[in-house]
Amino acid sequence: MTGGTEKKSIYITRKIPQSGLSYLEDYCDCRLWDAEAEPVPREVLLKEVASVKGLYCMLSDRIDAEVIDAAPHLEVISTMAVGYDHIDIAAAARRGITVTNTPGVLTETTADLAFALMMAVSRRLIEANRAIYQGGWKTWAPLFMAGRDIFGASLGIIGLGRIGQAMARRARGFNMKVCYYSRTRREEVEAAEGIVYLPLDELLQYCDFISLHVPANEGTFQLIGIRELNLMKPTAVLINTARGSVVDEEALFAALISGQIHAAGLDVFAEEPISLDHPLLALPNVVALPHIGSASVETRTKMARIAAGDMVEVLAGRPPRFPVPGT
Ligand code: DGY
Repeated sequence: MTGGTEKKSIYITRKIPQSGLSYLEDYCDCRLWDAEAEPVPREVLLKEVASVKGLYCMLSDRIDAEVIDAAPHLEVISTMAVGYDHIDIAAAARRGITVTNTPGVLTETTADLAFALMMAVSRRLIEANRAIYQGGWKTWAPLFMAGRDIFGASLGIIGLGRIGQAMARRARGFNMKVCYYSRTRREEVEAAEGIVYLPLDELLQYCDFISLHVPANEGTFQLIGIRELNLMKPTAVLINTARGSVVDEEALFAALISGQIHAAGLDVFAEEPISLDHPLLALPNVVALPHIGSASVETRTKMARIAAGDMVEVLAGRPPRFPVPGT
């Protein structure tokens, strides 16, 4: 490690932005699954973790008790993500392993994507783009590809963490009436951002657009199910850039097909990557994206570097900047 002592060994589960990798290589003895678009196979991961002190992983790697048990020397798991629902935090804590994540740096990029998705759905951008290439643009027509206005509409934000607040700031520029629901009421944010708290059911009944910004955990599992979808307006649009587990996808499919709600924009799914024959992908009123909320070069580079920084800190016996609570 630092100060001339021997470098500690780590395993990196994907090719990461170079600045993160270079930093790690300065301080650690790195082994790497050197592929960009292909996750490390489970059997390789289980074998590689057997000897390392640090595991640098992606949100697509399931770091469960089996992986943790297979890693007797592990001191730290750094995920290049803010969400850590892919890691068994309790199993890590039992072993005294520190887990770190990357909050903060991806806030604005993810809120940009959520807002872009809301606009794409409401103004039918993907459908309209496809129509050109499929020969569907015959003439200008009064209701051809007519969508719904965002300007002046109501937005319900569920989960008022960093990304939820960043979404609210964007909505202000579009003169939207912004409401939020969160387990803990944030009166200081209400005043600062000019937003209004509503109980969940009222928010669902009132808002034109509903955007999800809660973490995945037991309390948010299928937070949006049949009951909640039934409360929404038939003109409502649901945006999910949080986690797929927050929405009951079967119930969402039924609501979209029956006209119970108008449309959905989804960047996240219960199973990722989503299978091509998933029923949601066949619906014209769904815009689906491949979990790209934080995918800007700048942000992914920062995320890689932050995860690398904390990995090195923990291995050097210093506290990390972003420890996951409970580890
Ligand atoms: C995260 O980091 O958890 C985000 O979902 C990445 O886009």
